[in-house]
Amino acid sequence: MAFPTETVYGLGADGLNPEAVARIYTAKGRPSNNPLILHVADIDGARALVASWPPEAQVLAERFWPGPLTMVLAAAPHIPEIVRAGNPTVALRCPAHPVALALIRATGRPLAAPSANRSQGISPSRAEHVVKSLGSRVDLVLDGGPTKAGVESTILDLSRRPFRVLRPGPLAPSLLEALVGPIEVWSGAVADGTVQAAPGMASRHYAPKAHLELLPRPSLLARSQEGGNRVVLVTFGTPLPGSGGGEQRLLPGNAEGAMAALYALLHDLDAAGVDRILMEIPPDGEAWMALRDRLRRAAAKA
Ligand code: TXA
Ligand code: MG
Repeated sequence: MAFPTETVYGLGADGLNPEAVARIYTAKGRPSNNPLILHVADIDGARALVASWPPEAQVLAERFWPGPLTMVLAAAPHIPEIVRAGNPTVALRCPAHPVALALIRATGRPLAAPSANRSQGISPSRAEHVVKSLGSRVDLVLDGGPTKAGVESTILDLSRRPFRVLRPGPLAPSLLEALVGPIEVWSGAVADGTVQAAPGMASRHYAPKAHLELLPRPSLLARSQEGGNRVVLVTFGTPLPGSGGGEQRLLPGNAEGAMAALYALLHDLDAAGVDRILMEIPPDGEAWMALRDRLRRAAAKA
């Protein structure tokens, strides 16, 4: 079953039932070396799933849960291997969405839930994206409307020192550092099909069907005139002057707004059969880190 969270929709199953979890991998077409996040309703739910709960996990959970923070910790022995993809660690998150929390509480189980899309596709920020991507591979979608944050949770690995951000997300690293001291931000995406330093961090991910290219704002118009195919220009905050460049779409000029709107825009452009997306390189700065990360992956060559 798919359900809304505050980040993206998840495809959920009983995280302690290996057969149920196996069906998630099948439905997504997800490689078995890519572990899943277990979603819990509260701190007690998380503590029941780990071999040890460091004080930093307690501090971060008290401050940011429910919310878009996933913590990687040493797994308790009863966590099925298929959830961990053979790793000694487990990823845990308490989502800030009433439907997700109600579902976890009603089942009384931690829910294994990846983003509810086919592997390597664009994550769903609306229920209709789930239906479009998974079709009959999902039996039920709980529609909670558009998600708030729009990109996937920040993943922090607390099983090693220094702590390391494995995936940037809505919570910026400095917010985490303020509570637990210096952390690394890992950016070593590897190619698909190779042994992965951090599982699931494939370089091509979140990819639209259209060819996506990131360009400095001044080159957008010129590049848009090259191709004969259907081209759409995307900028942040302010449209390009003039209409010579053809079709244009705008994402908000603030990072929060742009994150919330990004996946719906990419889904729309795919549905419209756009061939090329020429997008302005997002601004520098920590607030834009997650957006830059997703766009870099979406633009990576297959
Ligand atoms: O916002 C989110 O996190 C969404 C919603 C549904 O909660 N979920 C999500 O799940 O994005 P998924 O499976 O699409 O991405 C989870 C990422 C994957 O890159 C996976 O490799 C990583 O988390 N991950 C899971 N368990 C891990 C572990 N034990 N160690 C390192 N990385 C892990
Ligand atoms: Mg995903």
